[in-house]
Amino acid sequence: MRIAFIGDIVGSPGRLMLKTYLQKIKQEYKIDFVIANYENASHGFGLTAKNANELVACGIDVMSGGNHTWDKKDIIPLFDTHELLRPHNYPKEVPGTGCKTYEINGEKLAVINLMGHFSMPYTDNAFRCAQSTVTSLKEEGVENIFIDFHAEATSEKRAMLMLLQGEVSGIIGTHTHVGTDDLQISQGTAYLTDIGLTGCRDNVIGMDAKVPLKQFLTGMKGHYDIPKKCKKILQIAVMDFKNGACENAFKLKYFDDERVLKTDAWREDYAVTLK
Ligand SMILES: [Fe+2]
Ligand SMILES: [Fe+2]
Repeated sequence: MRIAFIGDIVGSPGRLMLKTYLQKIKQEYKIDFVIANYENASHGFGLTAKNANELVACGIDVMSGGNHTWDKKDIIPLFDTHELLRPHNYPKEVPGTGCKTYEINGEKLAVINLMGHFSMPYTDNAFRCAQSTVTSLKEEGVENIFIDFHAEATSEKRAMLMLLQGEVSGIIGTHTHVGTDDLQISQGTAYLTDIGLTGCRDNVIGMDAKVPLKQFLTGMKGHYDIPKKCKKILQIAVMDFKNGACENAFKLKYFDDERVLKTDAWREDYAVTLK
């Protein structure tokens, strides 16, 4: 199966890029299934019902979340009506789930959403949650497993690779909005520390630069806003999964001035350090 992953979709500029390019990308690269992170899709904070429907219409099959999942109150009923995840390591009594399994071309794919700890809300241990979830999925016969690891610290993301390489098909980070240049495949696990946002590529993490600039110059916090006009980017990782392993992976960056950049994953098997 060929799956694709898109990170934090930031506001209407991000949604516009998906409307313009996603169907075209799916056809050109014969993508079977698309996962995308919704946490900033509605004006930078959370997801409304209207925008959830818009993203489904763009060709997104399942949406994962993060620390901004709860910003719009619309989200809670959407867990019953849409293919939507929230970080799986939120306590059990929290609405929704962070792990769902799908069938694609006769093969199973589980999508897990996890949230890191540094500079994040209190949750259960992401690493222990990842281990127990992967163990139960394997007991159920699910081989292909993809993780959106929503975390601030690059060290947490890298440690998740060391913990689960050879056990899952892909781990890609979200949350920082800034893409990293380390797409790789180790022991059949595709890994990228952060895929970066889909939205405004100028300004500051997809938001109007005025507010963060004022905040950093004065120490006074303000409400971040989506720029009225900006240069946009869509960032998408494409991965081929078979029998639980990633055989091939690349990342595409679509600019709204028609430039497209492609980066292939490097392959190198790192030792599993825990055993
Ligand atoms: Fe985000
Ligand atoms: Fe986030």
